Amino acid sequence: MTGRSRPAIEVVEVTEGADQVQRPSAEVRYADELARLREADTAARPPGWALSVQAARRFVVGDEKLNVSRKFVGDPSLIDRALITLATSRGLMLVGDPGTAKSLLSELLAAAVSGDSTLTIQGGAATTEDQIRYSWNYALLVADGPSTRSLVPAPLLRGMAEGRTVRFEEITRCPLEVQDCLLSPLSDRVLAIPELTGPESMVFARDGFNIIATANTRDRGVNDMSSALKRRFNFETVFPIADFVTELTLVADEAAKLLRRSGVTAEPRRDVLEVLVTTFRELRTGETARGDSMDRLSSVMSTAEAVSVAHAVGLRGWFLRGEAGNAEDVVACLAGTAAKDNAEDLAKLRRYLAQQVSWRGGDQWRALHEARHLLPG
Ligand SMILES: Nc1ncnc2c1ncn2[C@@H]1O[C@H](COP(=O)(O)OP(=O)(O)OP(=O)(O)O)[C@@H](O)[C@H]1O
Ligand SMILES: [Mg+2]
Repeated sequence: MTGRSRPAIEVVEVTEGADQVQRPSAEVRYADELARLREADTAARPPGWALSVQAARRFVVGDEKLNVSRKFVGDPSLIDRALITLATSRGLMLVGDPGTAKSLLSELLAAAVSGDSTLTIQGGAATTEDQIRYSWNYALLVADGPSTRSLVPAPLLRGMAEGRTVRFEEITRCPLEVQDCLLSPLSDRVLAIPELTGPESMVFARDGFNIIATANTRDRGVNDMSSALKRRFNFETVFPIADFVTELTLVADEAAKLLRRSGVTAEPRRDVLEVLVTTFRELRTGETARGDSMDRLSSVMSTAEAVSVAHAVGLRGWFLRGEAGNAEDVVACLAGTAAKDNAEDLAKLRRYLAQQVSWRGGDQWRALHEARHLLPG
């Protein structure tokens, strides 16, 4: 002890609702919808499932009659195939470009099938088998030796023992030898715990257990997976949203939701969002609306990024000036998204704003062109 008294913690007055969870899990966010679906669900359920396949599909793609919102925008047949895979003994692998809602889809599927999307492993270069299967409470291990009391189950062990869906995010970012600990749980549906003896040394998967993995085709390819493991998964590709109006509507709805949660009462402006979504699509595809080809950015210009820029634009407008965001805010927010670590992208963005924007009609396009000086550098 130094003898100095510690300063009293100053209690700062914060805005109402500051103790709220920023993003509750899907089963909490949509608890009402899940309850309605469960109540109306008369179809047969695969063993161990919380909902039938049809009800789980409605949870993801929406159902007006039951007032269930559409959460994933895309081909509904993808959802059918994904759900059927989950009812088989093969895992489901969602692959695709960044920001195409692979993680969102895996969360929604787990919430629908198991009523719980929290048994999640986040793959990374430092992921270990302990974080996937189980580890030990060392104090109890020293006191008792290996026992079920000192065992600390990780998502895979829990999913198998409880018959639930396990999510494995960004699986291809894990070292190959770590990924391979999924082999016997997927093929033999059993996990050995060699430290224990007797029947407890084998955990047999209960009905309802399966794995949904996601992998990004940009960061590190799915080639970084052993062919033995690949054979135990069905692959489904999640594509970016092809239609402009569909993407615009999704960005508008998601941004409005995020802005409401951030305490912004000004609705995002449709004309500003149109400019934003068009800009994202053109910089993503390298083609303008009138068919000119142009430089595409190497940064990811995904729908998920468009949603987060639309959110930031609304926040700038509201917290800096007390109004909805405008085209100037779009330029200010674009720089940080479009040109993260690449000076060339910044130059391409500057060229786009100088050459590809002025020929379009509309106040927001003109404002976007004029605000190009806000780009740094
Ligand atoms: N087809 C879509 N349907 C619904 N939301 C979408 C869609 N595409 C993108 N989004 C938006 O993107 C967000 C989800 O991004 P998510 O993190 O799931 O993508 P991801 O494919 O896992 O990306 P990453 O590869 O970077 O992990 C959603 O919250 C939603 O706002
Ligand atoms: Mg993801």
